[in-house]
Amino acid sequence: MATEETLVLVKPDGVARSLTGQILARIEAKGYELVDIRKFTPSRELLVEHYAEHDGKPFFEPLVEFMMSGDVVAVRARGNRVIEGFRSLAGATEPTTAAPGTIRGDLGRDWGLKVQQNLVHGSDSTESAERELGLWFG
Ligand code: RTP
Ligand code: MG
Repeated sequence: MATEETLVLVKPDGVARSLTGQILARIEAKGYELVDIRKFTPSRELLVEHYAEHDGKPFFEPLVEFMMSGDVVAVRARGNRVIEGFRSLAGATEPTTAAPGTIRGDLGRDWGLKVQQNLVHGSDSTESAERELGLWFG
């Protein structure tokens, strides 16, 4: 399998809790390369594009509001099967039940808010990765 790239986001909860270093260290320790890193507060326009597949779902607006509530760290990560590999490192969407050993399982929990604040995003396919890297890194 050829080397591929994925978009990882450390979401505003991860940045606010000063977990960026720990999260990026797990990606590097797994053996993936951090090719590019940007920190900024994303615009609504960018987030609406990024989360287009979720438009119309009940958590869409709270998700966009949460994601624009502070700085995000966007990472271009590279390696063989990094898309699947990072999803595995991140763990299941819901941090309460995400497996221990994963980023969400070890570092996240349910805060009783309108949206799952689960620390990270990772592209879920080669098509998504290409689309999302274009959006976040131009
Ligand atoms: P992500 O896209 O962030 O890597 O996460 P995912 O694939 O595991 O989850 P997805 O289904 O794509 O949902 C995107 C993000 O929306 C928030 N969410 N909240 N019911 C809820 O409260 C709910 N459902 C989804 C999470 O932040 C999730 O990561
Ligand atoms: Mg997703």
